[in-house]
Amino acid sequence: MKVLVVGGGGREHAIIMKLAESPKIDKLYCTPGNGGISKYAQCFSVKATDIEGVVEIAKELAVDMVVVAPDDPLVLGMVDALEAEGIKAFGPNKAAAAIEGSKVFSKDLMKKYDIPTAKYEVFSDSVKAIEYLKNENKYPAVIKADGLALGKGVIIAQNFEEAKNAVISIMEDQIFGKSGANIVIEEFLNGPEVSVLCFTDGKTISPMVSSMDHKRALDNDEGLNTGGMGTVAPNPYYTQEIADTCMETIFIPTIKAMSNENRTFKGCLYFGLMITEDGPKVIEYNCRFGDPETQVVLPLLDTDLIDIFNAVINETLSDLNIQWKNQSAACIIMASGGYPKKYETGLEISGLDEKGQISDSMIFHAGTQIKDEKFYTSGGRVLGVTALSDQLSSALDLAYSSVSKINFDKVHYRKDIGQRALNSKKLQEELVCY
Ligand code: AMP
Ligand code: GLY
Repeated sequence: MKVLVVGGGGREHAIIMKLAESPKIDKLYCTPGNGGISKYAQCFSVKATDIEGVVEIAKELAVDMVVVAPDDPLVLGMVDALEAEGIKAFGPNKAAAAIEGSKVFSKDLMKKYDIPTAKYEVFSDSVKAIEYLKNENKYPAVIKADGLALGKGVIIAQNFEEAKNAVISIMEDQIFGKSGANIVIEEFLNGPEVSVLCFTDGKTISPMVSSMDHKRALDNDEGLNTGGMGTVAPNPYYTQEIADTCMETIFIPTIKAMSNENRTFKGCLYFGLMITEDGPKVIEYNCRFGDPETQVVLPLLDTDLIDIFNAVINETLSDLNIQWKNQSAACIIMASGGYPKKYETGLEISGLDEKGQISDSMIFHAGTQIKDEKFYTSGGRVLGVTALSDQLSSALDLAYSSVSKINFDKVHYRKDIGQRALNSKKLQEELVCY
């Protein structure tokens, strides 16, 4: 098979490295890709959001499948455009991608189908939103832009002043553009967070190994929110009992609800969950693989990924027995100093071999480019360093040991990835591995 992957970050690199293991794959392509990806797939310069451009190269290359990884092309309808040309595509169509593309849609879906989530109100008028906040007077309050906002559309306000400023900046100053025309104000939930990525063909849902993201820029969960500074899998808070509850009250009801709304979801459905005192609740849905969750989840997969993608597209997922390694994985993100604010690019990276790798770990390139056979930084998140081991503690030791061998000017990474998971008493309990 010839497969084209759309996207150019660490998640796409992890998908490509896993596909590269398949004996069924002859040729891998990626657009736009990055320096590290170019060692495993032929890269093109078509942007991930350029629907016509991607359809065109998919036709030119006569690929057997296109894997659309990022949220924006999915929400814009890239899968619909590919299918209209008779090209097989992995990922939800536009109607189904609304589960991430519109928070108002996803919250209303959960309310209609009784799927546990935070209580909320929707506003299309900033004055009414501010009036509501004044009357409600409960803090922290969570304010979310309706549409996509590069993962920055959620503001947790500690008091009325902050909440009011959030509403004004999203709705009046339009810091997220049209994505902020409507907002959701919801109740603040407490508890450990778990990410569960699931394969689904719309009828069957198959959860992957659970994971834990670390979204804040600095140690001890301080600093600004980022796209993710590291991940571990499995997530020790996700016990068998919680997994069973999620399947019954969240996962199956969600795919049934989507089918019922004529928005059958086929692809990878990501559940951002919070384990509250009242049980697991949905914080957010994503219509795609998470980043950097994918960089710990896919390395633990033992089944051929292309067989799973085919089964999702052909709606035969129930025939497949997906296998996972009984191990733990840790991924440390090496970022540019200053990220998620301003940072420099074009800095030379030392410590990588000619394939952009290092022994003992897998290096997933997020923001790198190659010049004269050398790797240079080209983004905020630069590398994801993933290691596997029988124990989470040794996976973390291995990953951090690899991190210490790689360097670039002003490199920044968190030193405490996985500490919360290690400290969790629940680690003593049986971990879930499907
Ligand atoms: P999102 O962009 O939807 O992933 O949200 C970013 C982060 O905001 C989540 O990972 C949570 O940590 C936090 N968050 C979102 N909604 C809530 C909520 N209702 N209560 C508490 N924290 C939340
Ligand atoms: N790691 C969170 C996300 O991919 O949205």
